[in-house]
Amino acid sequence: MEYYRKFIYILIIVIITSNSRGIDFKTKVLPMLEKKCMSCHREPYKTNFGRTKKPKGNLILNTPEGIKKGDNGKAIVANNPSGSSIYRRVTLEKNHDRFMPPQGKEDPLTEKELKDLENWIKKGADTGDWKGKTFKNTVPKSVKP
Ligand code: HEC
Repeated sequence: MEYYRKFIYILIIVIITSNSRGIDFKTKVLPMLEKKCMSCHREPYKTNFGRTKKPKGNLILNTPEGIKKGDNGKAIVANNPSGSSIYRRVTLEKNHDRFMPPQGKEDPLTEKELKDLENWIKKGADTGDWKGKTFKNTVPKSVKP
């Protein structure tokens, strides 16, 4: 009986922790990225006029791989907000020419968004099972021979 009780406790803990993976990302960080960054930082896409638009600064923020590889791996450095260029860019002086999002394009991050981003990076920058946000006019990745 005792054995089963322990087993159940462990099972419950495993379920709770596995479900919480990436929860901060999905509820607190992702909505901000979608609203304030992805218009410029997303996989190549075709405009209505047939032009192909590339991600600005070669940084893709609509896929987990893009976030991790961006800026030669320095876009997000787990546990290290000040080493992560995404965090540095959003915390510059607002009139700095590298400030993100660029002035006049999207609203700067709110205090809460900054804190949530910082905490998420500090806790390891886990994106959980997030597969990325797909846009319907994304240009398919060319198939390598
Ligand atoms: C209106 C378009 C636009 C939006 C919106 C925007 N960016 Fe940018 N971003 C750029 C451009 C253009 C560059 C390249 C020029 C430069 O480095 O400043 C860039 C560069 C960057 C870089 C440097 C990439 C590298 O490899 O050097 C980071 C990091 C970045 N952006 C983060 C963000 C974040 C985080 C957001 C949302 C909070 C955001 N950007 C929103 C246009 C945008």
